[in-house]
Amino acid sequence: MIKPHGSDTLKPLFVYDSEQHHALIKEAETLPSLLLNSAAAANAVMLGAGYFNPLQGYMNLDDALSVASDMKTKDGLFWPVPIINMTSDTSGIAGHSRIALRDPNVEGNPVLAVMDVDAIEDVSDDQIKTMAEQIFGTLDPEHPGVATFTSQGNKLVSGRIQVLSFSYFQADFPDTFRTAVEIRNEIAERGWEKVVAFQTRNPMHRAHEELCRMAMERLGADGIVIHMLLGKLKKGDIPAPVRDACIRKMVEVYFPKNTVMVTGYGFDMLYAGPREAVLHAVFRQNMGATHLIVGRDHAGVGDYYGAFDAQTIFDEKVPAGALDIEIFRADHTAYSKKLDRVVMMNEAADHEKDDFVLLSGTKVREMLGNGIAPPPEFSRPEVAQILMDYYQSTQE
Ligand code: ADX
Repeated sequence: MIKPHGSDTLKPLFVYDSEQHHALIKEAETLPSLLLNSAAAANAVMLGAGYFNPLQGYMNLDDALSVASDMKTKDGLFWPVPIINMTSDTSGIAGHSRIALRDPNVEGNPVLAVMDVDAIEDVSDDQIKTMAEQIFGTLDPEHPGVATFTSQGNKLVSGRIQVLSFSYFQADFPDTFRTAVEIRNEIAERGWEKVVAFQTRNPMHRAHEELCRMAMERLGADGIVIHMLLGKLKKGDIPAPVRDACIRKMVEVYFPKNTVMVTGYGFDMLYAGPREAVLHAVFRQNMGATHLIVGRDHAGVGDYYGAFDAQTIFDEKVPAGALDIEIFRADHTAYSKKLDRVVMMNEAADHEKDDFVLLSGTKVREMLGNGIAPPPEFSRPEVAQILMDYYQSTQE
């Protein structure tokens, strides 16, 4: 089985031993505490679940700056996006070396992790801007990732953590939320060797579905792990339970049994395009996938990235040997009216634009909101029905 990133075995930071877990929860109640922002809480969940192996906690400023500029920590570990804990108020934890981290996304702010504080460092406005520009490729405050990153405060709290909960993800998505440990174990149980991961934050339309099928067939893969984002998205994106229902229906009706695992991970979307694609590759390797599909405008938003920047970064910025996982690159996929099937557009000879069924996201949302199903060439009718029900319920 493919090795995790940066170590021989996966070292999740969740405390699985129940006695130790109990003792830490008790200890946490006596510790000064820091209420995390959602991004830092999501980082803790990913660290706990083993997805961010081999990191042991939140990066310090030196590492964060180095990762943002060169995609490696000071020690030379390849890593594409700073994994940090920023805050504006450290008055409650100043001078303390052991603190409790509280969850902003669960009522009552229960303890999410216990932390050994290594350092509390001031981050200058210039450093925040530099990192934001390096990660997101823009400083436009309209970019949702930039807006989040630049409003998290200017104090960076770094150090090792022991994770005590998976936040709201286990309770809200019991069938779908999986740790990297669980996915690795299930891949091993199924005896899959070549495993394709599919990142998604959308309900899956025909283009997504066929992309998975093409990757499976062309790679001769044993199976595909659909791995959906379950954390926060920007306004207007479709909530995870609705996407989950669409994906499960599509898999049930249109894929052979035992070829697909429908799973999800607890992380907020960064919208960092190419950099996020590389982070996606790192944590799919950690969960045991040998390949990650990267198609058009992967993890993108608006017009901030070129349609295939998230593919070229793997050629231009990821050093050879840095990752074991491989990328399955896909061109724009769309239904060809001439060929009566979904194709990669660059592989369809003698086609004009009008020969494809191409609908903008805005158009599709408008149709669904009006109770009109997009054509079956674009969306499976079962998926369209779930989406129409959702859009119409939000209008009542
Ligand atoms: S993402 O933000 O998670 O990347 P989305 O769920 O829409 O968004 O896409 C999931 C994956 O499918 C990404 O790799 C993306 O590049 C790819 N993808 C989505 N639609 C298409 C398409 N029409 N053609 C090619 N690739 C696509």
